[in-house]
Amino acid sequence: MAVEYKFPEGFWWGSAASATQTEGADKEGGKGKNIWDHWYEIEPNRFFEGVGPETTSDFYHRYKEDIQNMKEIGHNTFRMSISWARLIPGGEGHVNQEAVNFYNNVIDEFLANDIEPFVNLFHFDMPLELQEKGGWENREVVDAFVEYARQSFALFGDRVKKWFTFNEPIVPVEGGYLYDFHYPNIVDAKKAVQVAYNTMIAHAKAVKVYHASHDGKIGIILNLTPSYPRSQNPADLKASHVCDLFFNRSFLDPAVKGEFPADLISLLEEHGQLPNTQAGDKTLLKENIVDILGVNYYQPRRVKAKETLPNPYSPFMPDWFFDNYEMPGRKMNPYRGWEIYEKGVYDIMVNLKDNYGNIESFISENGMGVQNEERFLKNGRIEDDYRIDFIKGHLKWVHKAIEEGCNPKGYHLWTFMDNWSWMNAYKNRYGFFSVDIETKERTAKKSATWFAEASKNNGFNG
Ligand code: BG6
Repeated sequence: MAVEYKFPEGFWWGSAASATQTEGADKEGGKGKNIWDHWYEIEPNRFFEGVGPETTSDFYHRYKEDIQNMKEIGHNTFRMSISWARLIPGGEGHVNQEAVNFYNNVIDEFLANDIEPFVNLFHFDMPLELQEKGGWENREVVDAFVEYARQSFALFGDRVKKWFTFNEPIVPVEGGYLYDFHYPNIVDAKKAVQVAYNTMIAHAKAVKVYHASHDGKIGIILNLTPSYPRSQNPADLKASHVCDLFFNRSFLDPAVKGEFPADLISLLEEHGQLPNTQAGDKTLLKENIVDILGVNYYQPRRVKAKETLPNPYSPFMPDWFFDNYEMPGRKMNPYRGWEIYEKGVYDIMVNLKDNYGNIESFISENGMGVQNEERFLKNGRIEDDYRIDFIKGHLKWVHKAIEEGCNPKGYHLWTFMDNWSWMNAYKNRYGFFSVDIETKERTAKKSATWFAEASKNNGFNG
């Protein structure tokens, strides 16, 4: 069958998920507590309909069925994460053999089904004991992470050839230290900057360990959100530049170029927000850049110059430098409240080509969360044509980027099956498969069938 949007041979068709959002078995298999288990215990009211992370989608017990389903819908790759608190309860010291067995079984099952597992080490889930020591604020936690990374490479690196240190490392900074949507719910920009900085140091140290001992690829997964200015007015352009510095380049530049942007450093310095550093950090960052970059893209950021002065009594925030801009006529995903702007994915790729050495990359997350999806049930299947359109819309721009010489190697949907989404719990459903949260029964949606065809044909008709 001739297809209009044909992708290069070997294109990665798959999806992504994270340990805490899917495994469940929270109190089984010797797992330690992470910040999500703890936060849910003390503030269950923060979670949509009071649903916590104890059971989630039960991947821990159902991984064989899930991997079979992935194979059936044409996955050749899949990104999972390891739960640090499962592998090393408490975050430091003793490695939990039951967890080693579990992850070995999962990895082997993927390989037996010709699905390459990409493994990420940290997806928002800090072991509780380490958070009690200050989490990423504390350099001791950086060392603990590097040891966890070393153990993971040693245990699974013979079979796993694509590793990622962090998923969206800016999110715990925003959620945990600025905007109150992750534990420990601190609002303090100086701490936020320290957390971001130490995360980057942990990342570079893990990259160093990997490169010294293994021959696969290691990277990081970043949520790159193009910051479109309202207009070409210099004040709007400045607002978008500052946003780009804070929310994209704070991690993108050190990960790919090995250094923080000079403009970001001077802005933080001007406002007394620079982090504590140690001798040797600069060289460490410079010498340990990534081999591959995962790009999570959901929505663009649109900004304009600030219209009012910040309240002098409010704490320092990135938002001192810009206002969000609601572009008239923007296309929205009303359920999640996010704008849909497919071309964003192309703009990111062109930016990587022009300014970041055209680093090898892939779309590591893109997806559409929809509330009350049962309303689209027909003969037992969710007819999610909106999701198919969403995926196609983005893939067309990925295709164009490839035609123009950009370097994305694949596309992973968020996510394979409906999963537990942090504070939103099961509010918005993202999966190719729906999950009954009582019985855990999985059912393919229409998008799963579409994806199987697209993967088989290595492309699709517009
Ligand atoms: C990404 C995360 O930010 O977006 C996922 O890597 C998350 O963990 C996904 O679930 C969807 O966002 P949300 O907030 O709707 O769950």
